[in-house]
Amino acid sequence: MNLSLHEEPVNTKTPTTAEFSCRVDQNLKLNAEYFHLYLDAPEVALKALPGQFFHLMCPSSELGDPFFRRPMSIYKVDKVQRKIQFLFKNAGVGTNGLSKLNPEEFLNIVGPLGVGFTIPNGTRHIIVVGRGVGLATLAPLAEMASQKGVQVTAILSARRLDLLMSSERFRSTGAEVIQVHDEDNSSAVENIEILLRQLNGDAFYTCGSNRLFKLIKRLSKELNIFGQVALEQQMACGIGVCFCCVRTFEINGKNIHKRVCSEGPVFDVCEATGW
Ligand SMILES: Cc1cc2nc3c(=O)[nH]c(=O)nc-3n(C[C@H](O)[C@H](O)[C@H](O)COP(=O)(O)OP(=O)(O)OC[C@H]3O[C@@H](n4cnc5c(N)ncnc54)[C@H](O)[C@@H]3O)c2cc1C
Ligand code: FES
Repeated sequence: MNLSLHEEPVNTKTPTTAEFSCRVDQNLKLNAEYFHLYLDAPEVALKALPGQFFHLMCPSSELGDPFFRRPMSIYKVDKVQRKIQFLFKNAGVGTNGLSKLNPEEFLNIVGPLGVGFTIPNGTRHIIVVGRGVGLATLAPLAEMASQKGVQVTAILSARRLDLLMSSERFRSTGAEVIQVHDEDNSSAVENIEILLRQLNGDAFYTCGSNRLFKLIKRLSKELNIFGQVALEQQMACGIGVCFCCVRTFEINGKNIHKRVCSEGPVFDVCEATGW
């Protein structure tokens, strides 16, 4: 991999998106699957909004050489320490390379990219429902909502309790956290539906699970509640040029195709379709 030592943008495309080589500050192994990566960040990267992502040029590893960049949601922007953070699951060639990064090495990234979450004016109480790596995408949304004085309830789902990431991150934003997992069946869709009906929120947000997405879509329609989903779609260019990330949306009775990278990854939950 071509790791340059530039700390300033090496190819500024617009005032809001650029390519950088960022110094790795920390890369913490959280458990058997998940890592928490901290990068020194220039000013443009610190402007990343909840739901936006960066496109990472993952290093080669024993699993191979990732040809394309890999998309990764922003997990936290720390404007005081001037760092951006990612929470990632070691899932394959690219993320395995990421897991091998050591402090003081450099990682080439492009971003921030895409369209992030919206909190409509007048919202009192949002409910975020995420699973697996989807929790990483939702954490900055909880932070933004709390900063606006909006109440947040976060339903965090995982296969096992020890794989449940981000509980402390959500709590630190002021969110009320409800943990559910597969081992005691608390993560069953029927159980989440009961919770969602009881919580009396006025906006739903979800990421990371097709089953949860379908539930949120159904309830948003039935209860006429604003809802958004952050989609995870395999990408190549990440900037709207190659059309490899196109998904079908149902808008006013018609099937419309949209690019997840540039027209999303956050979409109206009632318009998005499952995967
Ligand atoms: C907007 C966006 C934000 C994301 N944010 C995060 C994040 O915060 N943390 C995180 O861990 N992951 C995130 N992902 C998923 C991450 O991009 C994939 O896990 C990664 O691309 C896998 O690359 P790999 O080379 O390690 O795996 P590969 O060897 O390419 O694939 C391993 C497995 O992962 C699947 N996969 C590959 N790419 C994706 C993808 N884009 N979405 C879903 N499944 C995929 C493959 O089908 C295969 O089954 C995000 C994806 C998108 C589109
Ligand atoms: S990844 Fe190329 S258009 Fe979306």
